[in-house]
Amino acid sequence: MNLSEELEGRALRESRALLAREVPGTDFHALCRWLRHGFPRYGWVGVYLLEGGTLHLAGWDGEHPTEHTSIPLGSGLCGLAAREQRTVNVRDVRERPEYLACFLETRSEIVVPIMDGATCLGEIDIDGPQQGAYDASDERFLERLSKELVHRARSVLERAPWRA
Ligand code: SME
Repeated sequence: MNLSEELEGRALRESRALLAREVPGTDFHALCRWLRHGFPRYGWVGVYLLEGGTLHLAGWDGEHPTEHTSIPLGSGLCGLAAREQRTVNVRDVRERPEYLACFLETRSEIVVPIMDGATCLGEIDIDGPQQGAYDASDERFLERLSKELVHRARSVLERAPWRA
């Protein structure tokens, strides 16, 4: 998306304020909504958290819900990013056999792990309908954003709302 340093700094400050305001118990929904509405190429935005070898959906925003509310670490682009603890940025999901399909219109997907030191707590997952929607500036922005999510991710993991 070619974010300038200045815009990226502003977006990170806004996300920090949002995370501070977000009501405990609502998990990551407000953050996902803010990302989706602020960045036109972010068509579907979710945050998954990793517990017991499974990624659990802890917040999302998009036109449709996903059927993949829990994803084993061995599956999908989401599993790949968490296993290898690195950003996975796919230009065209049709070229990736491990891709777990959610939405017919999806072409690009970027998955960025939320790292707490050497431990992966979860990830940010974004889909969009354009091919090659995400570039190095998205990777850098989302990697910086993911560091802001560590504290919140730890507290949601303690509550593990998906177990209820
Ligand atoms: N496409 C992902 C699954 C999650 S949905 O996109 C919301 C994957 O391949 O892991």
